[in-house]
Amino acid sequence: MTFPADFRWGVATAAFQVEGATTADGRTPSIWDAFCAREGAVAGGDTGDPAADHYHRMPADVALMRDLGVGVYRFSLAWPRVRPDGGEINAAGLDFYERLIDNLLDAGVTPWPTLYHWDLPQALEERGGWTARDTAYRFADYAAAVVERLGDRVGTWTTLNEPWCSAFLGYGSGRHAPGRTEPRAAVAAAHHLLLAHGLGAAAIRDTVPGAEVGVTLNLFPVGVADPGSAADWDVARRVDGLQNRVFLDPVLRGRYPDDVLTDLEPYGLRDVIHDGDERIIGTTVDFLGVNYYRDLLVSAVPDARSGLPSEWVGAEHVSFPERDLPKTDSGWDISPEPLTGLLLRLHTDYPRLPLYITENGVAFPDEIGADGHIADTDRIAFVDAHLRAAHAAIEAGVDLRGYFYWSLLDNFEWAEGYAKRFGLVHVDYATQRRTPKASASWYARVMADNGLAGRE
Ligand code: FCB
Repeated sequence: MTFPADFRWGVATAAFQVEGATTADGRTPSIWDAFCAREGAVAGGDTGDPAADHYHRMPADVALMRDLGVGVYRFSLAWPRVRPDGGEINAAGLDFYERLIDNLLDAGVTPWPTLYHWDLPQALEERGGWTARDTAYRFADYAAAVVERLGDRVGTWTTLNEPWCSAFLGYGSGRHAPGRTEPRAAVAAAHHLLLAHGLGAAAIRDTVPGAEVGVTLNLFPVGVADPGSAADWDVARRVDGLQNRVFLDPVLRGRYPDDVLTDLEPYGLRDVIHDGDERIIGTTVDFLGVNYYRDLLVSAVPDARSGLPSEWVGAEHVSFPERDLPKTDSGWDISPEPLTGLLLRLHTDYPRLPLYITENGVAFPDEIGADGHIADTDRIAFVDAHLRAAHAAIEAGVDLRGYFYWSLLDNFEWAEGYAKRFGLVHVDYATQRRTPKASASWYARVMADNGLAGRE
């Protein structure tokens, strides 16, 4: 099972999850620092320190990637390192990313930076955060500052990672920073994140005309619990609208879907869209990043969680019935096959769009053996199955150009803290010792062989 000759193999991380050093060199607090300080918000009371202390261990981490034969490193920049307070540019913050990129280039690893992976400066949250239209313009300023400094050595920029989480987990269910539970705020945040993408993309191209620009979305195939139930189908349409199409259509067609506009009318979506916004959001993208972890099965029959603050604005009574599927340590169903259909759907609905799987990966309760070895065969099986699903989409004609495993390192898994380990490389947080798991050498082979050669 071989992938196309120019297929890109990589690994991913994000600033707040791996860097640590949250007060170093002029970094100011982000919404995640503030959220972590809130009693009960993050499991174990964990915070962004020490994370994997990547800020200080970056050269060794890059060397590790080189040794594994990683082709692409997808990472994010911390906005509060670069523009503390959303104001003056902090040269020391940019210096770190310049060093990182130079180390990567020296190691033969292509840098794949994302500008926003959820760590909004807290100072901007205090001015309304993503509910404020102004935040989208501040993002464009931040993007311009970054690209001015680093654009000569980076070919591909990603504006946002998973705006769905920023908007709906951040302002809807409150599971993520800033922890607000206001449905209208979540809808305004979604629109302003989209606007930030459009304005940011323009700012990047104004600064470096030839730059490739894209966005990464977390997309979920949505199925129904009871195919005979019209109510289930309606809930599936709504959830697909809220999770997938509310982002896909404005970015790739320059237009919100009519049904989503109607569903979110009571929550003020039309009120926050200004004339011309959809044109800005619909600026051409050079690729779409797809983060895939699982599919969703929905039901219109309420359950115990119904009516609680929800990320499903306007569909608060949707439930997600248990399925008889193996689960990850995050409690997520293991469900690789629907990835093929998702990629095919994107290929059909949004033609001529290069796709990358910018995240796919799994947390398992890894155990360190007596010999120090971590035999994570469950993780290997997980990745193997998802690569097969991706390969099937390529065979069917999908223009899938890369796969980046989440994550290179064990790291801070947001509201779950350090308890969930997604890394190919184990991190002992007390000593910061890195131990590649069995999956790391397995994945190194996959990258070297450009697929699952000889393992059909
Ligand atoms: C995604 C996030 C990423 C990581 C994985 C497990 O939603 O983009 O930061 O936490 O989930």
